[in-house]
Order: sequence, then structure tokens, then C-alpha cells
Amino acid sequence: MTKQQTQIGALIVFMLLAALHLQSTLSSGESSIYKVNKIGHYSWELLFDIDNRQNSGTVKKQIQTTYYANCSYRNIKKEIKTTSSVTSTGLEVGVGAIFKIVNIRMEGEINSRVRSMYEHLSEISSEIKIERTNTETYEIGPHSRLKMYRLFFNGPGIDYLTSTVSTIPHPMKDVHMHYALKLIPFLHYIEVVYTSDSVSRPSNIISEVNGKNPDINGGYGGSYVWLVAHWTTKLEFPASGIHIAIQRRENEYYNDLAQGAGGYYRYIKMQRNSYATDVITEISLYRTSQKEDDPRNGGRWQFKSEDINSKRGGDYLYLVWNKSSI
Ligand SMILES: *[C@@H]1O[C@H](CO)[C@@H](O)[C@H](O)[C@H]1NC(C)=O
Ligand SMILES: *[C@@H]1O[C@H](CO)[C@@H](O)[C@H](O)[C@H]1NC(C)=O
Repeated sequence: MTKQQTQIGALIVFMLLAALHLQSTLSSGESSIYKVNKIGHYSWELLFDIDNRQNSGTVKKQIQTTYYANCSYRNIKKEIKTTSSVTSTGLEVGVGAIFKIVNIRMEGEINSRVRSMYEHLSEISSEIKIERTNTETYEIGPHSRLKMYRLFFNGPGIDYLTSTVSTIPHPMKDVHMHYALKLIPFLHYIEVVYTSDSVSRPSNIISEVNGKNPDINGGYGGSYVWLVAHWTTKLEFPASGIHIAIQRRENEYYNDLAQGAGGYYRYIKMQRNSYATDVITEISLYRTSQKEDDPRNGGRWQFKSEDINSKRGGDYLYLVWNKSSI
């Protein structure tokens, strides 16, 4: 039995699919790293079975095979989310929380190119695919049979059909996959803070995108009014949107954004939805004197609120925010 290999064509395809829009900067400071471990398994698939036992001649067979490795950041995340989480710190990722994978490490026997491709996913947050087609010619001698298997590897976010073939599907050691996760904080609620002068403003107020006045009452008298964002990593009843209510009637459950300035009462109401598929991960104020000036233009911000200053003249003032999917 001889095996002759002819490589007719080799094709390598790299595909970088649209990166998930992950924010690299977060308004809410540091968060801790969590560790999750998973396992990748090898298995053998029958490639062919040629029975030449009844024949006194030699059989030549050309077999075209496609080898590939598909690695997907999104699928790793999905797997971490849907399987019960094993973590060093007891974090229950599966229950809620949004996270990004900041480091990936494979431990065990695996092709070094596939390993570095997979580990690279934490940097690119997208997908990589290698594909290669080979044609191989096998010769099966007289009165013999050839059963050929090829090695397949499967783990979280990876399908890897290797070019390793064997006549004996022998057991292969598992590969250990280690992930470091960083929780992404998202908006819980917005606190309205009053001060009697500008310098006593809290240090962590929601600022204006272009460095303009972040005082909600700026230009109208009354108290100095600041907004402070409170962040969480627990997905219990997430804020999915923000509504500005402008009304004649006072609502004692909310803090008036126009305190002391007279006119309408102005309130921030968080819209909450336990079925939300995305949460607010970036927020800011946007002040402009132009009605046509929309903060969503230019792609910097995905959402804007109603005009906080509606019905009192002066600047247009919006809360603007971005969301990330859960
Ligand atoms: C991986 O790529 C191969 C070859 O392109 C394709 O047949 C297979 O369906 C892909 N698998 C996944 C999970 O994307
Ligand atoms: C908001 O989201 C858009 C679109 O995804 C992105 O281009 C922009 O950089 C984000 N802005 C901030 C401040 O994160």
C-alpha cells in the first residue's frame, strides 16, 4: 500500500467579518477580570473506506478534501453565556451581565497557526476563517482494504477540520481553553444632583460632548442641576432607553431638572425592559444652538433623548447614548 500525495490547489481564505461594536473606553472606570475554562475535543471522521479485497489489481483513488478552521468571537461568547459558568470568583455570567473576552489561551496539542488565530480573537472581536482544498491520490494494493479517518476538532467558537489523517482513530487529548472576561458596566439610573454654585458640582457628572455647559439649568436661573450616571454589571432590570417628561404637574417621585427655574417640570424617566437585548454603555449630554444639529449624525451617537430644554427657548439639550448587545 502506497500513498501518493498530489496537491492540485491550495486556497487560503481569510475573512474578517464585521467587528462587534465593543467600546474600548467606558465611562465607569475599572472592572475586574473573571476567568472561565472550557474544553475542546478531537474526534475522528471516516474519510473513505475502499475495499479492494476481491481484486487482484491496484486501485487508485483521487480524493478531494477541504480542510478548514473557523473561529468566531461571537460564538465563544454565546457558548460562555449559555453554558453554566465555571469561574474562579463565582461570577455567574450565564445569568446576566455583558462582558468582553480580553484574553484567550489554548493549552494542549493543536496546530500552532490555528492556536494563534483562535487566541487572536480577543483582540479583533470578530471571525477568522482559513480554508484549504487538497486533492490526494491514494493507492490501494491488491487484496487489501483502506479505511482512512481524519481528525476533527471542536470547541467553543471553533470548528477545525484538520489535515491529519490516520487509519486508526486513536484517542486524542482534550485541549483546555482559558478565557479572561471583563464585565462591561451599563447604565443603571441617572441621579439628579442640585448645588447652589457651579464649583460644588460632583466630580463624576455626565459631561457635555464638546465641553459645553453640563448644568441642565444653565441659562435659566434656579439651582445648578447635574446628572450623575450610576452603572451596574448586574442584568436584573436593565435600562433600555431614556425618556424626558415635560409636564405642568409636579411628580414628587422624581427630581425636577428645572428646579428653581420656573415653568414646566422636567423629569428623566428610565425605560426598563427585562427582555431588552441591548443596554446603555455610553452616555453624554449634547448641547447645541441649532435645531437641525442632530448628535446622531456622523455616527458618534446611536440615540438621543427628547430636547430637555423644550418649551423654554435657549439651547437644545439632549442626552445621547450608545448601546451594546447583551
Ligand atoms: C466552517 O467552514 C466550513 C468551510 O467553509 C463550512 O462548511 C462550515 O459550515 C463552517 N462551520 C461553521 C460552524 O461556521
Ligand atoms: C457609538 O456607537 C457608534 C456606532 O456603533 C460608534 O461609531 C461610536 O464610536 C460610539 N460612540 C461612543 C462615544 O462610544
